Amino acid sequence: MIVTQMKISLKLKNVGYAVPRRTLSNGARIPVVGMGTFGSDKYSPETVAAAVVEAAKLGYRHFDCASVYGNEPQVGASLQQVMAAGVRREDLWITSKVWNDMHGEGEVIASCKQSLQDLGLDYLDLYLVHWPFPNFHPKGCSVDFHNPNAKPYIHDAYMRTWAQMEELHRMGLVRTIGTSNMTIPKMRLLLRDCSVKPAVNEMEIHPHFQQAELYDYMVDNAIQPIGFCPIGSPSRPARDRTPQDTSEMEEPVILKIAARLGVHPAVVCIMWAVKRGGVTIPFAVKPDQLASNLKAAVEIPLTPEDMRAIAGIDKGCRLVKGQVFVWREELSWEALWDLDGVIRQ
Ligand SMILES: NC(=O)c1ccc[n+]([C@@H]2O[C@H](COP(=O)([O-])OP(=O)(O)OC[C@H]3O[C@@H](n4cnc5c(N)ncnc54)[C@H](OP(=O)(O)O)[C@@H]3O)[C@@H](O)[C@H]2O)c1
Repeated sequence: MIVTQMKISLKLKNVGYAVPRRTLSNGARIPVVGMGTFGSDKYSPETVAAAVVEAAKLGYRHFDCASVYGNEPQVGASLQQVMAAGVRREDLWITSKVWNDMHGEGEVIASCKQSLQDLGLDYLDLYLVHWPFPNFHPKGCSVDFHNPNAKPYIHDAYMRTWAQMEELHRMGLVRTIGTSNMTIPKMRLLLRDCSVKPAVNEMEIHPHFQQAELYDYMVDNAIQPIGFCPIGSPSRPARDRTPQDTSEMEEPVILKIAARLGVHPAVVCIMWAVKRGGVTIPFAVKPDQLASNLKAAVEIPLTPEDMRAIAGIDKGCRLVKGQVFVWREELSWEALWDLDGVIRQ
């Protein structure tokens, strides 16, 4: 569905795609595809910020930001440019996240206010607790870095963080609140004890890491899954790779569908994510990639047979393992993910 001549006067092309939205449990409507803004080591804040403008020209309205990405001031300047060019604030969906070093009393609110200032906004559409741990690490550290102050999940502490999320919601500074990198046992406790329910959970989802049980748990509890690394993060830095990792870009089932449809395998991953019912936030700075990712969320020629074939290639391949967050040096990253259904201490 190509919408010609959007009513904005951004200098390059005034052509874009009208992105479908999903209605969340609180009635808010989130575009099914958003642009990820984590440039990692590869793309500077300026490059990501330029891509935000390009993305908006193409029709993106949803941008997935976070204070830890280190580029909210630059992304914010681009959002100002986009709005000055005629895109209405109410048509944008801007997400940000509180980083792990700001879980303390009052700090969540301070962090949100800082993100609002950096992004040049007076409210966020969505604010997430980035990780359920207060553990952090220096930027660019190696995967075997261990912070001696790291802690396991402590539910009371998480609820103190969540209470500040609820306060931000009451203050009107954020319209929707949600979680990220949660597990079923942790989410059960949050749902039991919260006043305002999370409306979304941002989680790793790609064809080799489908997280079906967690995904279904979220859907059953009216929590919309937002999938990160939808393409399997093919450009992540070497320090975030392990020899066991697999890649959708070399997956025969994906390659076969991509060849039949005449699209890049990345595009098949995005089509699958949206057709499955998710919201997806691929990262791209290259205009052709941005355009094809947006189109993939709008025009989805995948057949039920394609969907079944992709459902069959899950390899349980988690890419964002979170090893730098473990609280005892002898633990492996699996301890973060409550694999046997019990929150590990
Ligand atoms: N909540 C969390 O904890 C969390 C964790 C991780 C990520 N995220 C969010 O999720 C977003 C996406 O994750 P990600 O960047 O790691 O992984 P991704 O979206 O799976 O992969 C992005 C990379 O895929 C390539 N690509 C994108 N579109 C393409 C296309 N149409 N054709 C071919 N290649 C394409 C690009 O590589 P090249 O640039 O090399 O061409 C791009 O850098 C992040 O930006 C961030 O906003 C959230």
